[in-house]
Amino acid sequence: MVLADYTSPAGKLLNWYREHKRNLPFRENKDPYLIWISEIMLQQTRVDQMLPYYRRFVEAFPTVHDLANADQQEVLQLWEGLGYYSRARNLHAASKQIVDEYGGILPESKDELQKLKGIGPYTSAAISSIAFNHPNPVVDGNVERVLARFKGIEDDLRKQQTKKEIGQIAGQMISQEHPGDFNQAIMELGAMVCTPKNPQCNVCPLSADCVAFKTVRTDEVPYKSPAKKRPHHEIGIGIIHDENGNLLIAKRPDDAMLGGLWEFPGGKQKEEESIEETVTRELHEELGVHIDVEQPFMKLKHGYSHFTVNLHAYLCRIRSGNPEPKSSTEIKWVTVEELSNYPFPKANRKLTEALQNRLWI
Ligand code: ADE
Repeated sequence: MVLADYTSPAGKLLNWYREHKRNLPFRENKDPYLIWISEIMLQQTRVDQMLPYYRRFVEAFPTVHDLANADQQEVLQLWEGLGYYSRARNLHAASKQIVDEYGGILPESKDELQKLKGIGPYTSAAISSIAFNHPNPVVDGNVERVLARFKGIEDDLRKQQTKKEIGQIAGQMISQEHPGDFNQAIMELGAMVCTPKNPQCNVCPLSADCVAFKTVRTDEVPYKSPAKKRPHHEIGIGIIHDENGNLLIAKRPDDAMLGGLWEFPGGKQKEEESIEETVTRELHEELGVHIDVEQPFMKLKHGYSHFTVNLHAYLCRIRSGNPEPKSSTEIKWVTVEELSNYPFPKANRKLTEALQNRLWI
């Protein structure tokens, strides 16, 4: 790689990247499909967490055609545990768009890429620059931190105006010759060197021109106003079993949070209600059955991005009525072993594992 200018910040950054970048599977070639998958998986997710998922996913679906032909349940099962499941549903939907409307070839431009489901400003900039060399700057959390420090921007990073300003700086700074490497370099620097705590300024290629470093303010910059406290809910859950030990599971609607995944039915506790009453009411509303709450099975805490929950799971039996999917898309009776064949969200997976690991009736 020949650099136009070794002395500009972009040139220094590119040199640093060439020497220090991690060897990651999605950097081995410029297959737009693989870059797209990797960039979706990397949203809100660290490289070390996404790598095993990435490897399994691209082994199962090596091309956009394989993904488009897959069953949604298979896609969600490979995504299980990674969170933000709309990413998987959108990837799957977009792969069908690419096959049906673009002859199986990912479009190159940022505008055209944004017509695909789940691709917004960040992902379209990442794919168009890394796979097609279009000079579109990417701005993620790492880039925001690097550039806020580099330019000494003290404004609140939660404000749109601050993000806009940083986007403009990235646009001025990006290498026109190597935009994809520049974008990856600045994200890599944020992940490996310009970290939120204890940044390694002594090895940073940008420190000579970095305002925060020169004014000893890397601890204060960037500034982010405190996040709002996440609301908390108590959730009552019914593990309904029949006399043969089969269990009733329900599939969440596609457009809901955790859409397309399976769960044990239940819902939020109301004021003035015991948690057993919550389970009874929720199962009546969701399935149209009257149940007997038999005994507590498990209690667990879970944190989602925007709220936290305590799950209270009870073993239950149907007293009267035939269960119907009133608020889910489908319900099924399954054996304990078969629970492994369905995608479950993390907290519900803890329940299925506990069911598989101990005698429970
Ligand atoms: N974060 C998101 N995409 C990335 C990439 N391509 N390289 C480094 N960090 C990233």
